[in-house]
Amino acid sequence: MSADPIAQSAVPRHVAIIMDGNGRWAERRHRPRMAGHKAGVEAVREVIRGCAEHGVEVLTLFAFSTENWRRPAEEVGWLMHLFLTALKREVRRLHERGIALRVIGDRSRFGTELREQIEQAERLTRSNDRLTLVIAANYGGRDEIVRVSQRLAAAAAAGELAPEAIDEARFSAELALADLPEIDLFIRTGGEQRISNFLLWQLAYAELYFTDRLWPDFDVEALSEAIASFASRQRRFGRTGQQVAQAAQGAG
Ligand code: IPE
Ligand code: IPE
Ligand code: MG
Repeated sequence: MSADPIAQSAVPRHVAIIMDGNGRWAERRHRPRMAGHKAGVEAVREVIRGCAEHGVEVLTLFAFSTENWRRPAEEVGWLMHLFLTALKREVRRLHERGIALRVIGDRSRFGTELREQIEQAERLTRSNDRLTLVIAANYGGRDEIVRVSQRLAAAAAAGELAPEAIDEARFSAELALADLPEIDLFIRTGGEQRISNFLLWQLAYAELYFTDRLWPDFDVEALSEAIASFASRQRRFGRTGQQVAQAAQGAG
C-alpha cells in the first residue's frame, strides 16, 4: 500500500483534470465543436504555466477516453489531428521549460505518426524535473485495471507470482502512474459531476473539485481557486479529524 500520508500541504503535488466543456463552449458561440477543442489547447497551455508557478509536481490531463471513439468519426479524426499538431508545436517549448511529458493509455490505436511523435517527445523530455505533464489519451480506468489484472494473472499462471503476493502495493506498482505522487486534487470543468472512467484506482483519496466553467475558459485564476479550495480541506484518510489536527500540530 502507498505511504499513509498525514502531513498536509497547501499545494497539491499531483493535480488531475477532466477537461470538459469544449463542445458547449463552441456551440454557445455558434461555432463548430472543433473550435472549442482548439480553444481548449490554449487553456492547457495556461494551466501548465499555472501549475509550474504554484509548484505542482505532476499535472495529469484527460485528453481522450476509451469511450470517446463513440463520437462522430469526423470529430475523432480532428481530435487526433489536433493532438498531433499540438504535440509537434509545443514539445520544444515544454522541453525548454523543464517539463517532462508522458502519455498514458492505449496508443496502439493511434496512427504511426502520432505514435512516433509521442515516443520522441517522451524521449526528449524524460530527464526534465520542473513538472511532469501526463496526457491520458485513449485512456480508460477500467481498461487499465483489466490490463494489469491480465499481466498479474499471466505471471501467476506461469508460476512467477504467488496469488497471495498480489496486494495493493503489487497491484499499484503495475499502474501507469506508479512512480509519481498520488493524485491530491481532481478537477472537472464543464459542470458534470462524474469521473467518466478516468483514473479509477488512483483517485481513491483525491479531493474532488467540480466547476461549471467550461474548459476553454479555465485559466490561471480558476486554477488558483481550485487550489485554494484544496488547501481549505482536511484530508483524514480514515482517521478522525482530531487525530489529523494533532498530527498537524506535532509537525508544525
Ligand atoms: C472535452 O470536451 C474534450 C474531449 C472529451 C475530447 P467535450 O468535447 O466533451 O465538450 P462537451 O462536453 O461536449 O461540451
Ligand atoms: C471525459 O469527457 C473525457 C475527456 C475529457 C477526455 P466526456 O465529455 O467524454 O465525458 P462524458 O461522456 O460526458 O461522461
Ligand atoms: Mg464532454
